[in-house]
Amino acid sequence: MTDRVKIHDLVFKPMIKSDIITAAVDKVAAQISRDYASAEQPPIVISILNGAFIFTSDLCRGFDFCAEVSFVKYSSYDGVSTTGAVKSLIGLNRSIEGRDVIVVDDIVDSGNTIVHIDTIIKEMNPKSVRYCALFFKPSNYKQSLKIDYTAMNIGEEFIVGYGLDYNEQGRNLKDIYVVCNE
Ligand code: IMP
Ligand code: MG
Repeated sequence: MTDRVKIHDLVFKPMIKSDIITAAVDKVAAQISRDYASAEQPPIVISILNGAFIFTSDLCRGFDFCAEVSFVKYSSYDGVSTTGAVKSLIGLNRSIEGRDVIVVDDIVDSGNTIVHIDTIIKEMNPKSVRYCALFFKPSNYKQSLKIDYTAMNIGEEFIVGYGLDYNEQGRNLKDIYVVCNE
């Protein structure tokens, strides 16, 4: 694990090693496999780009059913704080009507993004929708929408790695790094 990583103007230090992440992701994959074991059709996994690309690839390989995975793009985040700006969901070129859907995101912070995505997804009349996040910041979460699956809860700190970025850099880091305050 590299000791310090500089991304743009910030310095990050190691926080969570990749083997810990792998174990947490496998656990969520096993739980989802159990929950959908008796479903008539496998759920459609909707992965939110860019942040969820690595998480989704590891997660869906842990399923014991044949998954259908679609990648969509949605972003309202700029730098280290939520901008509040709203964009739409692009890239979902198949119907989800009458199907079970699992939305996969990298991290749920204030929850603004996931609530907007929820509105868009529900307009498409799926049979059911569940939310799965790699990281969840419970102390920042302001919404009543249930996040059904979370691999790890963290505090309010800003992290990068395993798909998560700081202004588009750091997604390729294997481990999770946290911003240094000192
Ligand atoms: P929310 O709308 O406040 O829940 O923010 C969700 C989005 O913000 C995530 O999909 C990430 O792209 C980004 N985000 C929130 N916290 C972090 C963090 O600690 N590191 C990197 N990105 C983050
Ligand atoms: Mg991001």
